[in-house]
Amino acid sequence: MTISDPGVRRFNGKVALVTGAANGIGAACARRLAAEGSRLALSDVDEDGLAKVLADVRTTLGDEQAAIAVPCDISAEADVKSLFAQLIAHHERLDVVVNMAGIIGTANSHEETLEQWNRIIGVNLTGLFLVCREAIPHLVETKGNIVNAASTASLSGHPWFTAYGASKGGVLMLTKSLAMEYAKRGMRVNAVAPGGITTNMTSDVALPSEVDYEILARMTPLGDFGMPETVADAVAFLASDDARYVNGEYLRVDGATLA
Ligand SMILES: NC(=O)c1ccc[n+]([C@@H]2O[C@H](COP(=O)([O-])OP(=O)(O)OC[C@H]3O[C@@H](n4cnc5c(N)ncnc54)[C@H](O)[C@@H]3O)[C@@H](O)[C@H]2O)c1
Repeated sequence: MTISDPGVRRFNGKVALVTGAANGIGAACARRLAAEGSRLALSDVDEDGLAKVLADVRTTLGDEQAAIAVPCDISAEADVKSLFAQLIAHHERLDVVVNMAGIIGTANSHEETLEQWNRIIGVNLTGLFLVCREAIPHLVETKGNIVNAASTASLSGHPWFTAYGASKGGVLMLTKSLAMEYAKRGMRVNAVAPGGITTNMTSDVALPSEVDYEILARMTPLGDFGMPETVADAVAFLASDDARYVNGEYLRVDGATLA
């Protein structure tokens, strides 16, 4: 399902950065924000995917200049600095950051490699921090806000996904800490905590042979997997003025898996 016209324009006059915008939830967020009038900077390591989403949002916005795409590996500090330099040079302001870039990986935890551990923490937690760090001065200026990709893995144990769960637990606490630190300066920071959502991330994930499916079943949705657009709806709410008194909070979008 795509949202061609949500009927409201909560982001008219605003500029939003979406990381992980080439696929899945990030792409759905980019399309949703464009449908509500936001100018955009889209970022991802997947340049082909980025080009497709860029074309879509430019069509929605009816203006080539209203959206740019900047390839960027969020785990590389120089890339992130370059992303912000290009974003501000083009749009001259920033109101919203949607931090959706992320990766997953599984292992029997006693066999987890340091390489995979560092890669997952490096993208999901350190990379997300780098984007927040560069964004903060601009968002304080516009009284803007950040929406981070937490997960139900931020809230309960996800066996065989230890590095992923640790990174997402970190994202949630980073969200709360930043929210308190910058609240008096008018910047909000919240997170979405999706459960199972149908994207490349969930379709491509390979499980170790030792997985105990009885234990694993405890973290799977009660019904069907959700769609990226259902998470984008929650992100758009948190990023909008409708959530102006919501700060340091997470919104679970998981069809009651953890209720
Ligand atoms: N799909 C789910 O069930 C689910 C559940 C909870 C949380 N999440 C989180 O939501 C976010 C989006 O996930 P998704 O399901 O849409 O996955 P996805 O794989 O479809 O999209 C993730 C995007 O991040 C990009 N990316 C990966 N590494 C990057 C890097 N170093 N720098 C910049 N971009 C990078 C990828 O190219 C991809 O476009 C992730 O943070 C994920 O952890 C997903």
